[in-house]
Amino acid sequence: MNAASASPAGVPAGGAGVVPRHVAIIMDGNGRWAKKRHLPRVAGHRKGVEAVRATVEAAGEMGIGVLTLYAFSSENWRRPAAEIADLMGLLRRYIRDELDSLARNGVKLRIIGDITRFDRDLVTMLEDACTRTARNERLTLVIALNYGGQDEIARVARQLAVAAAGGTIDPVTIDAAMIEDRLDTAALPPLDLLIRTSGERRLSNFLLWQAAYAELLFVDTLWPDFGAAALADAVADFGRRNRRYGGL
Ligand code: IPE
Ligand code: IPE
Ligand code: MG
Repeated sequence: MNAASASPAGVPAGGAGVVPRHVAIIMDGNGRWAKKRHLPRVAGHRKGVEAVRATVEAAGEMGIGVLTLYAFSSENWRRPAAEIADLMGLLRRYIRDELDSLARNGVKLRIIGDITRFDRDLVTMLEDACTRTARNERLTLVIALNYGGQDEIARVARQLAVAAAGGTIDPVTIDAAMIEDRLDTAALPPLDLLIRTSGERRLSNFLLWQAAYAELLFVDTLWPDFGAAALADAVADFGRRNRRYGGL
């Protein structure tokens, strides 16, 4: 059976040669990359930023519409303060160094996750970067920061409960679409392909709702070694999948 006939309206079928519209990546393995080289973990994170640069560029060239990158999870606060500071520093530097080039190359930046816990100046920097690139259309780069799928869904539940208690929505009308419209990813195309690097086979609280019908790909490559070639391999693998969405 043709995969296209099984997909719900508006959802790309996947199948031979199809480029996924929305790819998300759990960028894992920076620490192990550094450890293998007897380097401090931060060296792995630095090299990881180079992999981000290469992957973003390749995604644009391949015609992927949305690339969502898991940069800092709601659980990553459990790491030593020094490592968190290193990660925040690298994020600041990435935005500072790359924003002109992203803006020039038609990249629209968007943040998911709860960044209210970040330093005020970093929040302002991220908001300004999103505003400045808001009209770009070639590639949407979504960075997940202090993001957790459970936290995202809990925030939606809270918002709906408050609205129901206030009488602005009728609780019996709450359905999947109403939840989806309030997720951080609202209005983004459905997630087609979710990649995790470094050989771990878990979601670590990433895009739990959105992954419902995503194709999952776990690769052994450590994130700092990821780039254009690895992304092309992942897209080719996606092109061989047969998506059925519960149909035949
Ligand atoms: C991913 O690499 C980067 C972040 C989670 C921010 P890790 O730092 O998790 O690297 P490993 O898993 O220890 O190798
Ligand atoms: C997931 O990687 C989070 C990011 C890539 C930002 P982790 O390294 O934090 O995940 P666990 O702890 O191995 O599940
Ligand atoms: Mg890890």
